[in-house]
Amino acid sequence: MSTPYGADEIAALQEKAKRHLWLHFTRMSSYADSDVPVIVRGEGPYVYDQRGKRYLDGLAGLFVSQIGHGRTEVAEAAARQAGELAYFPLWSYAHPQAIMLADRLANLAPGDLNRVFFTSSGSEAVESAWKLAKQYFRTVGEPARYKVLSRSIAYHGTSMGALAITGLPGIKEPFEPLPAGGVRVPNTNFYRAPAFVADDVTAFGVWAADEIERAILREGPESVAAVFLEPCQNSGGCFPPPPGYFPRVREICDRYGVLLVSDEVICAFGRLGYYFGSERYGYQPDIITFAKGVTSGYAPLGGMIVADRLMEPFTAGQGSRVHVDTHGQERHLEGAGATFLHGVTFAGHPVSCAVAMANLDVFEKENLLGNVRSNEGAFRSTLEKLTDLPIVGDVRGDGYFYGIELVKDKSTRLTFDDDESERLLRGFLSHALFDAGLVCRADDRGDPVIQLSPPLICTREHFDEMEQILRSVLTEAWRQV
Ligand SMILES: Cc1ncc(COP(=O)(O)O)c(C=O)c1O
Repeated sequence: MSTPYGADEIAALQEKAKRHLWLHFTRMSSYADSDVPVIVRGEGPYVYDQRGKRYLDGLAGLFVSQIGHGRTEVAEAAARQAGELAYFPLWSYAHPQAIMLADRLANLAPGDLNRVFFTSSGSEAVESAWKLAKQYFRTVGEPARYKVLSRSIAYHGTSMGALAITGLPGIKEPFEPLPAGGVRVPNTNFYRAPAFVADDVTAFGVWAADEIERAILREGPESVAAVFLEPCQNSGGCFPPPPGYFPRVREICDRYGVLLVSDEVICAFGRLGYYFGSERYGYQPDIITFAKGVTSGYAPLGGMIVADRLMEPFTAGQGSRVHVDTHGQERHLEGAGATFLHGVTFAGHPVSCAVAMANLDVFEKENLLGNVRSNEGAFRSTLEKLTDLPIVGDVRGDGYFYGIELVKDKSTRLTFDDDESERLLRGFLSHALFDAGLVCRADDRGDPVIQLSPPLICTREHFDEMEQILRSVLTEAWRQV
């Protein structure tokens, strides 16, 4: 049971929040006449506000809280580590928690992904992967390779490099010019597939993968460093890969010597029922980026896991030498190849690494991957009940990761125009779902969707609770359209 704050405390927090706190990606003016939502504690899949009101955390915070809230064993691991060694950098030094976590992640990661470079966030992980790709190619004598392909509407982070990879024009525009080299390819939204492949998901997957090849050829293969793809694209409302898509993308990357980066900031650590999303869909990346679920949010951490062969030029000594590249070709190594010239102060923070270890212990002890795998069918079928509502056009996703696309006309798949979308999502749905006790995300960065990504401890009772709240709020939304 939560202890609600008193009326004076609530008013003081509101006043200070409105005066001094700047919320991310938030139109602050929208709180001029209403309360800033303040969450004060969490327990399991629920969080509580200052008045003691309970909410089902249907988004795991922000695709983060895999093991749920209020786990004292993880909090205690953080406290123990802070008492023993609160901070030391990974610049030239190591500490036991980073070593043990790198070892554990290397063992969990697919194939030859074996080397872990920590960061403190997902954007830094993406930024690091692009920088590594660029420096790697420069080191092995292909300095012209700097471009990155990514999919339309995909979100890969907000720092300038990561933003150049992000495929959402609206959040990029104020920051142009961004670093050069970001190239867009189509995403895998089958619900909005072009007419000539709209009836055949496999043909759609072949087309979407081949668009990557066409983009590489258009740009010039010698200039392309990497393709960044999420296993299941979040932004736009959960686009799982069509059958055969990733094997074909892997072949294309191999054909042109381009690195395949699997951006698993959301999809790793159980979100799709596996430690890594690439395992679920059966492909082998050259780099995996991760963050979020690695600690379930008990402390911030991100990083990339890299294939041994990409590390090799950086482990070789100084001087002229030969390196066998990704495709078995011998390359002469040039320049200052011995050091990856990149780092951030809080990367691999000892407390965050200790927390990640304790978090992964919970995964193992409670068989959370097994929980997702055995319940994901029930999650899907519970959400699919909503397709009887006129406003629900599509329900899609995998594991514990779903998007519900909202439409104005189901038969034609007509979407809402900008004004309607603004009124529906910002003006009504976001608040109404929260007021009804569900944390989820109403997003219109692509077509309007509701995103769900609950903690991995959730079971049928929580799916039913989500469905009931969504049903009543979406029914009301339709009345207002
Ligand atoms: C796929 C993906 N990549 C990168 C990021 C950026 O992560 P962060 O917000 O930790 O910088 C996100 C954040 O949601 C993400 O979903």
